[in-house]
Amino acid sequence: MMKTIYLIGFMGSGKSTVGIALADKLEKTYVDTDQFIVDTHQQQIADIFQEFGENTFRNYETNALKEVSTYEVVSTGGGIVEKNENLQTMQKNGLIIYLHASFKEIENRLENDQTRPLWKSDDEEKLKLYLRRLSMYEKYADHIIHTDKKTVNEIVQEIENYIN
Ligand code: S3P
Repeated sequence: MMKTIYLIGFMGSGKSTVGIALADKLEKTYVDTDQFIVDTHQQQIADIFQEFGENTFRNYETNALKEVSTYEVVSTGGGIVEKNENLQTMQKNGLIIYLHASFKEIENRLENDQTRPLWKSDDEEKLKLYLRRLSMYEKYADHIIHTDKKTVNEIVQEIENYIN
């Protein structure tokens, strides 16, 4: 059986857009862990954070990741690397591909975003989170793709080249 391809990376790095395009091109099944959580709990991510807090969201996320292991392409939430258990699930079941985008690029893409509770703090906090996560994504990735200034098609092609 083909291994699952997990896309990891910071908020706004294009995990969902690229995941959908990749699955489409390879004719693979696709799921997004955030969307899976929203569907399962019938609540938006921001509302889950607000009502139950980040810890509850992280538990939902860990369960979601386990439940989607039969899918072939999985886009994850930016915080998936926060738990060791998640890393083990992904390492055991598939390939981890990190979509890297520069902080500047992320800032541009998320400029008016209202849906991400962890992209609300001041600039210094955002940069701190970005840098902390960066080292985790790099550490756990089987492969890194630099996405700045690339089209979705180019990124998909790079992933295809890597897995073949
Ligand atoms: C988060 C990223 C979000 C979502 C939640 C927490 C994070 O997903 O899971 O808001 O901790 O980085 P995206 O990476 O799809 O924005």
